Amino acid sequence: MKILITGANGQLGRELTKECLEFKNIELILTDIGDFDIQKYNCMDKNKIQKVTLDITNETNVAEVINEYKPDVVINCAAHTAVDKCENDEENAYKINALGLKYLAIATNAIGADIVQVSTDYVFDGDGNTPLIETDNVNPQTAYGRTKLQGEGFTAENNPKHYIVRTAWLYGDGNNFVKTMLKLSETNKVLKVVNDQKGTPTSTVDLAKVILKLVKNKAYGLYHCTCKGECTWYDFAKEIFKIKGIDTEVIPCTTDEFPRPAKRPKYSVLRNLALENSVGDITREWEESLKEYIKRI
Ligand SMILES: NC(=O)c1ccc[n+]([C@@H]2O[C@H](COP(=O)([O-])OP(=O)(O)OC[C@H]3O[C@@H](n4cnc5c(N)ncnc54)[C@H](OP(=O)(O)O)[C@@H]3O)[C@@H](O)[C@H]2O)c1
Repeated sequence: MKILITGANGQLGRELTKECLEFKNIELILTDIGDFDIQKYNCMDKNKIQKVTLDITNETNVAEVINEYKPDVVINCAAHTAVDKCENDEENAYKINALGLKYLAIATNAIGADIVQVSTDYVFDGDGNTPLIETDNVNPQTAYGRTKLQGEGFTAENNPKHYIVRTAWLYGDGNNFVKTMLKLSETNKVLKVVNDQKGTPTSTVDLAKVILKLVKNKAYGLYHCTCKGECTWYDFAKEIFKIKGIDTEVIPCTTDEFPRPAKRPKYSVLRNLALENSVGDITREWEESLKEYIKRI
């Protein structure tokens, strides 16, 4: 199977690459807007992995690359993920998170390839208090959420062979909350962390395994995929320091004490119901995945 990954140098793209390299029958075309090093993957078989520059907002570039390499599946990990920056520049966010998906979906459909789009809990307003399932009403409150939802729409409209996978609170090989907390703990004895937003920290390892399982089973559709359980950012920070044995004190605070340009959902716990009903939910409890991640970094 030939898999083309866009945004391959991001957190999820890197993890998916490692996961794909575990399988003998997967050939990889890694693409990203910027340059990146593929030597770090230590792949002996040079035919197994290729690197190509691809800007998903360039329609011609997308069509040319997909026509040239003819992948069986395109997994889109490219996105404008800086939630606050999106708020001040929705036009650019729309180009990357929505229009890019239109181009990818049209180009994959033209060659009969599958497309995977990774989406977000920000498509919901976060005003509820029970875990959200795939059929719950969407109501994005931010430019990031709106453009990601438009991306979901373009994907579904333009390629019937799609998988749309919504995740949340992602951490992996890149900048994320875990690394920020560890860095802050080096210079702070006390940290204030928001305790009135709930979600589920999710390791890119769990998400990458689920995406590959869906693709292998050709289980097209809309999915929620986070680790299991729920917590606040305050609980998340406390758990990070507990696992690492760091004695930085964590003090709970409210969202109002940390005003940001983009509104954060108060409750965006996702339930992986469609996964439970199809290929099975292989994600772990969030604390277990976090422990494994912290041991690794
Ligand atoms: N991170 C989270 O907490 C979170 C939560 C829910 C959902 N998600 C979704 O999960 C997916 C993966 O997120 P992630 O954290 O792995 O993202 P990430 O680390 O920000 O990686 C995104 C990658 O896409 C690249 N990119 C940006 N614009 C591009 C373009 N026009 N063409 C091609 N590549 C482009 C970025 O390059 P540059 O760095 O050079 O811009 C980066 O390498 C995204 O769809 C995101 O919306 C993430």
